[in-house]
Parts: sequence; structure tokens; C-alpha cells
Amino acid sequence: MEKHDTNLDTAGAEAPANEKGARRRRKRSPEIAALQAMLKQTYYPHARNQTLLDQLNNLLDDFEDYDEIATKLGLSRVGQLNEGRAVVVVGESGTGKSRSLERAFADLGMTNPTDKTFVLSIQAPSPCNLKQLGIKILEALGYWIQRDLQENVVWRLVPDQLALRNIRFLHIDEMQHLTQLNNPVEALKVCDTLKGLMQNTNWPMWLILSGMPKLANVIENDFQLRRRSTFVRLDQLTACKEDLKEIRNVLYNFCGKAGLSLDGLPVRELASRLMHGTEGRLGYLIEVVQAALSVTLREERKTPLMGDFERAYETKTGCHPEQNVFADGVQWQDVDVRNTLFPDDDIEEARKPKKRRRKVSRGA
Ligand SMILES: Nc1ncnc2c1ncn2[C@@H]1O[C@H](COP(=O)(O)OP(=O)(O)OP(=O)(O)O)[C@@H](O)[C@H]1O
Ligand SMILES: [Mg+2]
Repeated sequence: MEKHDTNLDTAGAEAPANEKGARRRRKRSPEIAALQAMLKQTYYPHARNQTLLDQLNNLLDDFEDYDEIATKLGLSRVGQLNEGRAVVVVGESGTGKSRSLERAFADLGMTNPTDKTFVLSIQAPSPCNLKQLGIKILEALGYWIQRDLQENVVWRLVPDQLALRNIRFLHIDEMQHLTQLNNPVEALKVCDTLKGLMQNTNWPMWLILSGMPKLANVIENDFQLRRRSTFVRLDQLTACKEDLKEIRNVLYNFCGKAGLSLDGLPVRELASRLMHGTEGRLGYLIEVVQAALSVTLREERKTPLMGDFERAYETKTGCHPEQNVFADGVQWQDVDVRNTLFPDDDIEEARKPKKRRRKVSRGA
């Protein structure tokens, strides 16, 4: 009888599903698993953390001033203090806005639901129209919405429910969804309503708004909102001396945590490649470092190789080897990292061997 190589995993076909799964599951030692998990959880306190903490501290001071007078002398005496303020955090995707804020809230004691300074954190709906935003806030407050409510009813409920639950700080992330409305009138309505929350005489609110730079445009066009806000920019890192030093710090920091040594790796070169490959988006850069070190740990080595970064980057970006900024012989400075998954250029063109500028061995 004619034989066919079917490549069928006959043993697997006979084995019970859970046993089959267990056999295919890659094994990790508990120590490696713990180190990998620790890498993912580790927070890197970057230079701009302090600016963020300072601004949030100012916001808390502002609330405390209001609260002290309102409690001691009554609402009628708070005068011009009777108005909340906002901190606006802007940065490109992956710069670390959400994680930095989450960390700052925890550091400032704003995550304790019984505390006066507890912050309610929500993500703006997409697109961020007024009614949906209100519904998101009500849902986060645990308010049970039984039927489809009108926008004005939603927004009558929001301040009442915030007051009822003693919430003074509201964080709205992904606020750039406002611009998805493509409707300046609706966007203005949202801005006006946010101002209204801050100016509510019975229950003024203090806001933290975060999002991509488009959010800044919306606020810049609304002077009343702008006047009540202070700004924190989480800019992308650049190839300047200080930023490259910060990237090296990230590398030493995470390697130290994982018990790995960077000896033998061209750390300056690696920092420049990381900076280029991630467009200086610090959070994203940290993710690449974590993924690369995870490869090192998995292979039970004590020293990461450039190849670990190459593999981590390929997995994270889906790029072709010719466009992998960590690959040996690639002119990484010329790689358009925004266009590596499905490059617009003729793929054959992109795959043509390029002139070597600088050679870094994979195993360096
Ligand atoms: N300081 C940090 N230490 C460790 N990990 C970080 C740090 N900052 C960001 N990260 C990680 O980087 C990734 C991107 O960060 P984050 O989600 O905060 O970015 P973002 O600016 O909010 O992006 P987006 O606009 O897409 O929501 C996340 O996995 C986050 O855990
Ligand atoms: Mg975010």
C-alpha cells in the first residue's frame, strides 16, 4: 500500500485533550516564572514621574484648601476657592501615561476608596460623546442604569452620584476620543460639561484628564478649560545624551532586578537601537526590554544577547528580519519603524541586502 506522510500526531489524537495540552505546555522552573512575572510588574520611576507627582500634589493641595474652609466655615465662605482644577497629561501612545498615573495615584494614597482624595478612574468612551461619557461615569460609580436615559438626565445624575459617593477626583483616560466625534459642537459640549463639574457650587470636582496629543488641541481651543488646567507632557525620548542615559538606566535597572548582567553587550549601541526601534516611547521601550530579558531567562542564561532583543522585537512588531533594528548588519538608523509590519514598499525591494554600516554580532 502506498504510504503517505500525513504528519499526524497520532499519540496526541489518542490522548485526552487536557493531557495533550499539558504535554504541549512549555515548562518553566518556578524561579524563572517568578523572575519573568517580577519583570512585568516592575515599575521604572522615570525622570518625568516627579513632574507628574508635583502637579498631582498641587491638585491635592488645592482640594485640601477648599475642603478646610468649606468644612470649617461653610460653603458660602469658600469664595474663589469654590472651583475645582484639572491636571492634563498628554503623550503619544506607549509613552506610559496610564501606568504612570496609576502608579502616581497609588503613591499619593488616592486609591483608597474610603479616603477623601480617592480618584475614580475611567476610560473615555469611543467616540466620546456627552451621553456615553456620563453613562461610563455612572457605571464606574456602580449606579445601576435600568433603561435608556436621556443625556440631560444622565448629566443630572452624575454630580449627584459623585457627591453621594463622596468622590472629588475624577480621572478620564483616553480623552483624545473626544476628537473622534468629528463634531466640534459636541466636543465643546463635553468640555463645557467638564468645566461645569469643576464649577459645581455644591460639589466641585478636581479632574485628571489624560490622552494623546490631540487632546491638547481640544483644550487649547477652550480657554476656560485651559485656564483651569495645568499640563504634564510625557514626550517621546530622543537621541540626546540625557535620554540615552535614561534608556541605559532602564536596561541596568531591569537586568539588575532579573539578576542578569549586561557585561559584554554594547550597551550604548543597544540603547540607541532601542530608542530608534520604539520611537522613544518609554513604556513601549520598557516592554521590549522586559520581553528580551524574558527570553534570556527562559534560556537560562545570565547575560542577554543582542539576539534576545532581536527576537523580542520581531515578536512584538511582526517586522521582517531586514527591518529588525536589532538584527546583525541592518542599517537600523534607516529603518522606518512605523512601517514594518506590512511595508508599503515593494517587499522585494525592502529585502534586498543593504550596505552594512556597522556590524554588531547577534551574540555580542
Ligand atoms: N515607568 C514604567 N515602568 C514599567 N512599565 C511601564 C512604565 N511606563 C509604562 N510601562 C508599560 O508600558 C506599556 C505602555 O504604557 P501605558 O499603557 O501606560 O502607555 P500609554 O501612554 O497609556 O499608551 P496609550 O495611549 O496607548 O494608552 C504598558 O505595558 C505599561 O505597563
Ligand atoms: Mg493609556
